Amino acid sequence: MIIGVIGLGTVGYGVVDILCNEKKRLSNYLNQEVVVKYGCAMEERDLPDGVLFTRDYKDVLNDPEVDVVVELIGGTTIAKAIIMEAIEKGKHVVTANKALIAHDGKEILLAANKHNVHVFYEAAVGGGIPVVTPQYESLVANNIREITGILNGTTNFILSLMETDNLDFEEALTIADGLGYLEADPSLDIDGIDAAHKIAILANNAFDGFVDFERLKPQGIRNVTKLDMDYAKKMGYRIKLIARAKKEDDKYFVDVSPTLVSKNDMVANVMGAYNVVEFNCDYVENVLFYGKGAGRYVTASAVVGDIIKVSQSYNWQYSNKTIENIYPITKSKYYLRLDHAVDIDYEYYYSEKNVHIYITKEIEIEQLLSLLKNETYSSFKVRG
Ligand code: HSE
Repeated sequence: MIIGVIGLGTVGYGVVDILCNEKKRLSNYLNQEVVVKYGCAMEERDLPDGVLFTRDYKDVLNDPEVDVVVELIGGTTIAKAIIMEAIEKGKHVVTANKALIAHDGKEILLAANKHNVHVFYEAAVGGGIPVVTPQYESLVANNIREITGILNGTTNFILSLMETDNLDFEEALTIADGLGYLEADPSLDIDGIDAAHKIAILANNAFDGFVDFERLKPQGIRNVTKLDMDYAKKMGYRIKLIARAKKEDDKYFVDVSPTLVSKNDMVANVMGAYNVVEFNCDYVENVLFYGKGAGRYVTASAVVGDIIKVSQSYNWQYSNKTIENIYPITKSKYYLRLDHAVDIDYEYYYSEKNVHIYITKEIEIEQLLSLLKNETYSSFKVRG
């Protein structure tokens, strides 16, 4: 198996490293030699002996020996052109490009079906945690009824730090930035867009189609205050950025919102930069996948898994349905904080000085907004 890795940043370099370090074992496993022929990047990098460096990705695409093109440059323009050209040339593709698969997955994956090649993207969701492959393979007996996840490690790190180190959002954000956690465009993390990319990718399989990404309305964590986190804690909850996808009757719901999760729920106990994905299925019931969602070797592990899978897997077939009737989840229990009492159906109420906290009964957001139309308040969804 001859491989060309395009993009030698954090993950790309990790992929070359693992493939070279583990070459003997992986080659034995596949019963064929696993060879990294090219490493391609804008800036020259030191590569292990035998790996050719090139600045021109065409060298990789035009080499008839290359079986698998690994796209790790990110972005949705050149990366897309590289992937489409590789597919048209009959090469398999492995990518970690979540934004590209979320936006243009339909075009790319249907082209892969047409040209009878694999395009695998396990590393696009949950870093090193296997979540895409189980959906298409080990869980295939099941209809997936609902997916719930913490899919963005950076925001989970920030929320965890706010709680454990008693920091406000801006302070925790600065620390996350210092550790290099934030995407080049931090809004992708903070405003829930990255989590939306990932839940859209998982929803595609559950819904047997392609979610129209432009219709999603993710909410991020900018409005989560230390104060609300403390009140949530008093009531036995943590605030997490929860991504969800589910289908009810003919409606599809895909949602990313800061949400109170009971500390008795395993999802609430996913701390720091870790991710979790819970599939609620009809036969196997609830299955949780937990682990690190980012990092050089963590993500490279998923990419290498996909590369090896190329010669072992059947072609995943995709439907050409675009799903446009996508809605955010609006019916929920809500956490409310106000400076006076209000008349609302609640499951829990707490007050001290001028603070009134409610966990409402399940209610549609429209109804809640109309009840609170003249009020100043802070509110978040509550899971369960
Ligand atoms: N910014 C992403 C995260 C990186 O924090 O989860 C991994 O996709």
